[in-house]
Amino acid sequence: MTILPIVIAPDARLKVRCKPVATVDDSVRAKLDAMLATMYDAPGIGLAAPQVADDRRLVVIDVAREGAPPTPLRLVNPEVLWASSEKVVMSEGCLSLPDVYYDVKRPERIRAAFLDEAGARHEIDADGLLARCIQHEIDHLDGVLFIDHISMLKRNMALSKMRKLKAAEANRRPSRP
Ligand code: NI
Repeated sequence: MTILPIVIAPDARLKVRCKPVATVDDSVRAKLDAMLATMYDAPGIGLAAPQVADDRRLVVIDVAREGAPPTPLRLVNPEVLWASSEKVVMSEGCLSLPDVYYDVKRPERIRAAFLDEAGARHEIDADGLLARCIQHEIDHLDGVLFIDHISMLKRNMALSKMRKLKAAEANRRPSRP
């Protein structure tokens, strides 16, 4: 299974408003499968298309506990239909910001709509980690990172850490092919 390279922040590709998918076809299904493989490999509990340099509204999620059977979700054109006025704080991380974790306040419960890999429309009510993850991933489709929800000071600290990480990786690369 293809493991896709993950785009690390800051990167213009993470700030794009992604395009709705018109038809759920084989190319969409193949991308969702590759995104799931990439997410499990990382490992992570959610991944959105812009994190693998794709500007379509695609998300994959699996919030099953470690050791429990996998529960992969493939979401095409996901949207939040309703969000509770009650908000909760949870620590968040992101595969595009390795080793960066901050508390983020978001609605506790949501109702979301999406198309599955066969193109059928679903609505789900979610709370806890799943509600958190869906909101975080839909944000990605609108060019929003979780650090956009925290103070500018913390955001700048996170981005400067990522720039250092990228510089270190660039130095490690051999200068000749
Ligand atoms: Ni993320």
